[in-house]
Amino acid sequence: MDSFHVSIFLLLLLPLLASSTDKQVYIVYFGEHSGEKTFQEIEQNHHSYLSSVKETEEDAKSCLVYSYKHSINGFAALLTPHEASKLSEMEEVVSVFRSDPGKYTLHTTRSWEFAGLQESRKWNNIMEKKDDLLLKSRYGKNVVVGMLDNGVWPESQSFSDKGMGPIPKSWKGICQSGDAFNSSHCNKKIIGARYYIKGYESYYGPLNKTLDFLSPRDKDGHGTHTSSTVGGRRVKNASAVGGFASGTASGGAPLVRLAIYKVCWAIPGKGKEDGNTCFEEDMLAAIDDAIADGVDVLSISIGTANPTPFDQDGIAIGALHAVKRNVVVACSAGNSGPAPATLSNPAPWIITVGASSVDRIFLSPVVLGNGVKITKAKGKIVMCLRGNGTRVGKGMEVKRAGGIGFILGNSKANGNELAADAHLLPATAVSYENGIRILEYINSSKAPKAYIVPAKTILDSKPAPFMAAFSSRGPSTISPDVLKPDITAPGLNILAAWSEASSPTKLSEDNRVVKYNILSGTSMSCPHIGGTSALLKAIHPDWSSAAIRSALITSAGLRNNEGNPITDASGNPADPFQLGSGHFRPTKAADPGLVYDASYMDYLLFLCSSGFKNLSSSFKCPKNSPSPGNLNYPSLAIPKLNGSVTVVRTVTNVGSSKSVYFVSAKPPPGISVKISPPILHFNRAGQKRSFTITVKKDSEITGTIEKDKYAFGWYTWSDGIHNVRSPMAISVA
Ligand SMILES: *[C@@H]1O[C@H](CO)[C@@H](O)[C@H](O)[C@H]1NC(C)=O
Ligand SMILES: *[C@@H]1O[C@H](CO)[C@@H](O)[C@H](O)[C@H]1NC(C)=O
Ligand SMILES: *[C@@H]1O[C@H](CO)[C@@H](O)[C@H](O)[C@H]1NC(C)=O
Ligand SMILES: *[C@@H]1O[C@H](CO)[C@@H](O)[C@H](O)[C@H]1NC(C)=O
Ligand SMILES: *[C@@H]1O[C@H](CO)[C@@H](O)[C@H](O)[C@H]1NC(C)=O
Ligand SMILES: *[C@@H]1O[C@H](CO)[C@@H](O)[C@H](O)[C@H]1NC(C)=O
Ligand SMILES: *[C@@H]1O[C@H](CO)[C@@H](O)[C@H](O)[C@H]1NC(C)=O
Repeated sequence: MDSFHVSIFLLLLLPLLASSTDKQVYIVYFGEHSGEKTFQEIEQNHHSYLSSVKETEEDAKSCLVYSYKHSINGFAALLTPHEASKLSEMEEVVSVFRSDPGKYTLHTTRSWEFAGLQESRKWNNIMEKKDDLLLKSRYGKNVVVGMLDNGVWPESQSFSDKGMGPIPKSWKGICQSGDAFNSSHCNKKIIGARYYIKGYESYYGPLNKTLDFLSPRDKDGHGTHTSSTVGGRRVKNASAVGGFASGTASGGAPLVRLAIYKVCWAIPGKGKEDGNTCFEEDMLAAIDDAIADGVDVLSISIGTANPTPFDQDGIAIGALHAVKRNVVVACSAGNSGPAPATLSNPAPWIITVGASSVDRIFLSPVVLGNGVKITKAKGKIVMCLRGNGTRVGKGMEVKRAGGIGFILGNSKANGNELAADAHLLPATAVSYENGIRILEYINSSKAPKAYIVPAKTILDSKPAPFMAAFSSRGPSTISPDVLKPDITAPGLNILAAWSEASSPTKLSEDNRVVKYNILSGTSMSCPHIGGTSALLKAIHPDWSSAAIRSALITSAGLRNNEGNPITDASGNPADPFQLGSGHFRPTKAADPGLVYDASYMDYLLFLCSSGFKNLSSSFKCPKNSPSPGNLNYPSLAIPKLNGSVTVVRTVTNVGSSKSVYFVSAKPPPGISVKISPPILHFNRAGQKRSFTITVKKDSEITGTIEKDKYAFGWYTWSDGIHNVRSPMAISVA
């Protein structure tokens, strides 16, 4: 009950603190820099805006939190709502938005899922069988992936730089010192490390150093986990809680360079297992630096369940500037599934990643028998159902009450999704159906009895993959003209490195220290795409970030290891609002045949047609911008179709010089799709060809497609070798 009182106290306290000063951090965004100003001139310019709304020069100086000077033009400052509104009316200001302290968090599932040890086998299999991809990409050597997260545990074997060559000459980043972290903690693997906390401290006051390190060092585990998933070295026999399984832990791009940007911090008064916060102004500063430092890929496992329009979304703004410099940006879709329209990070210049299972599970069967009736937990096995609270927290309560074992039953929505957790007592998780069976047994018996068998690791479990129930779903609430998520990758029970300053459950009652841990979330799937993007970038250094995204999307797979369509956690076929174009296939993505390219200018035009008119002083929207559906995206979403719609797409030949592609399509039920021309001839690599897609509600078929309900289909360009597949989602007005 103690923690209950503490949280109520804080809930009362924080609004008082906020209202007593009446100032909050706002971000004032100007678009891009003209390129003519020095850093000093930029800061003076930002200062002049603040001077015009503040009473004194001193106020104008002291209220500034960040001045963004590299790529992003803007600043973050402590302002009153009135001052913010005055600024928003000024010339050259694109947007002014308040930094919402609770908006962005890391995307592990709220129930921190950890456990003994297990490698992400699907992923490793893909990588091990296809060593030619790794060889071709030289394991991602000389590609730099920037991680926006909560730091790193540099001593992990996963970050060893043994045998790695010199740091790429183009690298301009730094290794920032702080608590328990200095320049000697960077090496040829972790080539940069910085932290961003001014926004956090503007809101919460100085960091409580028992909660976190004031440095790039990770006191939580999440940042170490995602970083090692992207680029960890191969570590054999990574040890585990209980040691009941062992295997090789490896990142997707084992020789890639990592640059750590710590932007997420523990929340005062809350346990680590209860979350973290990542302030927009801190993330913008990190992205602005990362672009200038020279990262090639950004992996951001951070998001919000309530995304805001693109000009008021720190990650979207930062990512747009990154993409302008051809940095690939991969973000997690969020863990707010299975409800629809829960998606995070919907900007079309971002690769939005959903989460699915792998083909390796822990089996810890429950054997039922006869015994004494469960009345008190003491000395008993207790069964709980998933719901409010964390899974490991439930286990801990059972232990606290004297229970000797714990069965966690899935709710219906969780279906067959079983997360491996490092419970503090013998425990197992069961599917919804098996949970019902156990409950029936408990009901039917006067003296229910159970025995939990020690866990075994099962390989090649079938079906795999399936979509994790927690993975957030489309359609995008911000931009329904873009089909999101883009793709799915492993995010259920992923083994990766861990911080030794944290316990595997993050519960304060848990004193165990582990080097490797299992987590679930789109936080875990996003770095799989980050790592794959690094490999693709190494193979195709001339590809744009849009080309890399296109290659991933159009080559994704739709079938599980039983040869059937990938399902959701309950066994129903998964649709593109769950899995995007499908499960990632790195090797196929390296040779996609055709790509749908898009430039920074295309994104600006998309923003114009989506109603964002004043993007920057240096760019004016044309009078008639093409409708947002015309963004050259490798998938198609048409909300509220009325009559017929025609959009244009352009593909670039990145395969063999001479090729002929034929189109095929499976229109959504009740919709007709016409693609013209149906054949595309290419004579050389790099050649572009355009075509139109006309979708029309089929008048003869009525009632097939319900109003505002989406129906799904696809179209594919094929030359007999490459199948360039695009999913589509259409709803009728
Ligand atoms: C960095 O910190 C370590 C202790 O963690 C210390 O041994 C080392 O001398 C320090 N290096 C520098 C360059 O300060
Ligand atoms: C810092 O956090 C610890 C652990 O939550 C808490 O016990 C302590 O009171 C906090 N210190 C301050 C100054 O808030
Ligand atoms: C793997 O690790 C376990 C536990 O740390 C240890 O007992 C075992 O000897 C190791 N096996 C190998 C092959 O190194
Ligand atoms: C879960 O917690 C929320 C917020 O504390 C509460 O509103 C809701 O009723 C709880 N749901 C259940 C099933 O206990
Ligand atoms: C078991 O019994 C409880 C209490 O009578 C009831 O609410 C529940 O639905 C029963 N469950 C099953 C699976 O039969
Ligand atoms: C863009 O700026 C013009 C004039 O500065 C203003 O009238 C218009 O409302 C702005 N549009 C948007 C979408 O903010
Ligand atoms: C469909 O388009 C027609 C003609 O443009 C218009 O009159 C009608 O209101 C539209 N229907 C809906 C549901 O938007």
